[in-house]
Amino acid sequence: MAFFLSEIQRYDAYPPTVASFIRIPVSMYDGRGSSLHRGSNYFSGHANGVRMSKAATDGKWDTETLTRSFPGTGIPGGDVRDGDVIGTHGDMGESWLSAVKEALPDGGGHLDLGCGSGRMTFALANRWAPDGWSIGADRDEETLDRARARATIENLPGARFLALDVEKEDYTAILSGRLPDLVTAHLCMGLEIVSRAASVLPPGGMFACVALHRDLWREIGRPSRFAIAETEFESMLERFDLIPQFLRAEVEVLEIENPRDFLESSLNADFVSRWKKSGRWDTLNRYLGGGGRRLIARAQLQCIARKVAP
Ligand SMILES: C[S@@+](CC[C@H](N)C(=O)[O-])C[C@H]1O[C@@H](n2cnc3c(N)ncnc32)[C@H](O)[C@@H]1O
Repeated sequence: MAFFLSEIQRYDAYPPTVASFIRIPVSMYDGRGSSLHRGSNYFSGHANGVRMSKAATDGKWDTETLTRSFPGTGIPGGDVRDGDVIGTHGDMGESWLSAVKEALPDGGGHLDLGCGSGRMTFALANRWAPDGWSIGADRDEETLDRARARATIENLPGARFLALDVEKEDYTAILSGRLPDLVTAHLCMGLEIVSRAASVLPPGGMFACVALHRDLWREIGRPSRFAIAETEFESMLERFDLIPQFLRAEVEVLEIENPRDFLESSLNADFVSRWKKSGRWDTLNRYLGGGGRRLIARAQLQCIARKVAP
């Protein structure tokens, strides 16, 4: 918690962005207190099949912040669109995904934890199919059924989706003796998952994961219970002999000029209903009603790490 507070102070001290929609690299989440580094050149090296992020070469996080405003200012590509606001925190990072594709050898084996409807399996199909395999594990039967149906439609017999509590069960049973080249955990991350992933990865195998960052929605004081900070993330990896090759934080800040329109017309119905249920809707209303105009609408920590022998 102490680290989280010091991050907030550093963030508040950072000057407000002058223009929306420009990707602004900052080092605000760098727990080591380094000076600003540019986040525009993510790939500077190539190691073990993964192009390394520039920051990962020196063990630091590349942080990139995108500021958008509501209503939009008319800058192409930058405007907030209907239903495209804070429900997008689960979007997959493009540079992380490209690096993950490189981490999986052609025809390799892939295990996806908390697979949902199989986004990772399908995003990586060009790598593992047709000669390799991809196993997705989730405890939600409904999403597993959607994944299975899509695998049938896309003619991917090497894809399997299995019901499993990925925080409690051992993965060896579902792997039937096979060793994965890559284990992914996209927005399903925690100590139990990292430890189990590391235990089935051979030395040289890759672990690619994304977690919500603690600063997501921090203005309304209700972070997700799954959110973590950089230091926590790093110590989990280190504990299980996972060496980071790619470390990136992606943050989207929304500047809200017209809170009433924002609340009434910009958010998708699903999102509003979930936030009402969780009580966040009231806190968001109180924050905006009290004059709050900035909201961290998306904040992710993205990583790719290589397993080494203990
Ligand atoms: C935010 S979704 C992400 C889904 C998918 N990885 C994606 O990015 O599209 C989190 C998923 O993790 C699953 N999940 C959470 N905890 C789990 C657990 N202990 N065992 C199995 N699945 C779990 C949920 O059912 C859900 O499908």
